[in-house]
Amino acid sequence: MQTFSPYAILNRKRRGDDLAPEEIAGFIDGFTAGRIPDYQMSALLMAIAIQGLSAEETRALTAVMIESGEQWNLRSRFDFIADKHSTGGVGDKVSIVLAPWVASCGVKNGMLSGRGLGHTGGTLDKLESIPGFRARLSRQEFEKCIDDVGCVIATSTEGIAPADRKLYALRDVTGTVESIPLITASIMSKKLALGPSALLLDVKAGSGAFMRTLDDARALARSLIAAAKDSGTRVSAMITNMDQPLGTACGNVSEVLESLDVLRGAGPDDVRELTRAQAAAILEMSGRFDRESANEALDDSLASGRAFDQAMRWFAAQGVDPDVFHHPDRLPIPTTVIEVQAPRSGVIASMDAYAMGMLGVEIGIGRRQQDDEVDPAASILFDRKTGDEARAGEAIARIALGKIAKDPAALRAAYLAAIRITDNPPERKTLIYDRLDDTED
Ligand code: URA
Repeated sequence: MQTFSPYAILNRKRRGDDLAPEEIAGFIDGFTAGRIPDYQMSALLMAIAIQGLSAEETRALTAVMIESGEQWNLRSRFDFIADKHSTGGVGDKVSIVLAPWVASCGVKNGMLSGRGLGHTGGTLDKLESIPGFRARLSRQEFEKCIDDVGCVIATSTEGIAPADRKLYALRDVTGTVESIPLITASIMSKKLALGPSALLLDVKAGSGAFMRTLDDARALARSLIAAAKDSGTRVSAMITNMDQPLGTACGNVSEVLESLDVLRGAGPDDVRELTRAQAAAILEMSGRFDRESANEALDDSLASGRAFDQAMRWFAAQGVDPDVFHHPDRLPIPTTVIEVQAPRSGVIASMDAYAMGMLGVEIGIGRRQQDDEVDPAASILFDRKTGDEARAGEAIARIALGKIAKDPAALRAAYLAAIRITDNPPERKTLIYDRLDDTED
């Protein structure tokens, strides 16, 4: 029998050879248990980032990361249970709208979600800006919330895919975050460890996304779908536009309030359209709806107020007194609001989502480092978006500050540097570029 040699494995991956599942499992298990040092793991991560992994190797990596922790197998506990994941963007509050909306149509869903890092926001930071919201739930509490109100969004527990936590920390400092196989194994190990019946992936493409180009987003979507092959979880992916922030609010409490506007049947069109398309896809995946009946059920739920009532029951189940939404003074309140005026008349031709996200980090919406605190009251409100007209001197955005004081002139300059105003309207880009399913080869 050959002895296990990290050194030999490293050399083979550096040359671009495929690794056997047992070699990948041995390496990751050894690293998670502390037998393989950081320097050897870092070398393998870099070799993978440069040479890539085949679909089989990515599946083997995902499998060993799943097996490093608890496996909840939710689909054996519920008739049908859905999960939804976004690869991350700016102003992306779709999960907060989608969870109660889907549940109000009788389809249960549960998500373990993350906090924001860098320019992308995190669903948990948004939800935790609401006083009382409990994100840290035990497995029993997570399942009870689904039993009681049909949906839940909680923070990932230490027990789920611990190998990912250790690997991600190393990737973060070794320049190996941006690798499709490593991103795939990281996302899918956490998702498949929960074992939902169906998973809808929102793979974002554009300036505010991990994947800047449509081709890269497609490649990531295909890789994520392939990693779930034979797992028992059905996976579908939508490739969506992240060239400008989603909605008219970017900021923790402001995004929850915008989500509730959408659930009241108002709110920005892009958030409603994108959420409706993803919610309809989940309803279809449940097998209880076709495309037409899914859309009818969603529209009916919104118009009747059931979707909004469902959101209130869900918030209450996770510790929030729904009365806070009738008392704005009980929610985080900005200390200063800075208006940004259009420097010239014209049409907003583009808004750089990445730059907006980084402006958000500057004022405390997001964090630079994992242990930074976010400011729940800070927000950027987009009064004009791509395609909208603006007259010189007219307010096109408001920047609301919470605890962190900043120079208004510098913030205005940063905002204006992130947009372009031209004489002619820009070409309209679609919100949803593509949909890929696990039934395609
Ligand atoms: N999100 C994750 O969970 N992991 C990655 O590697 C990238 C995004």
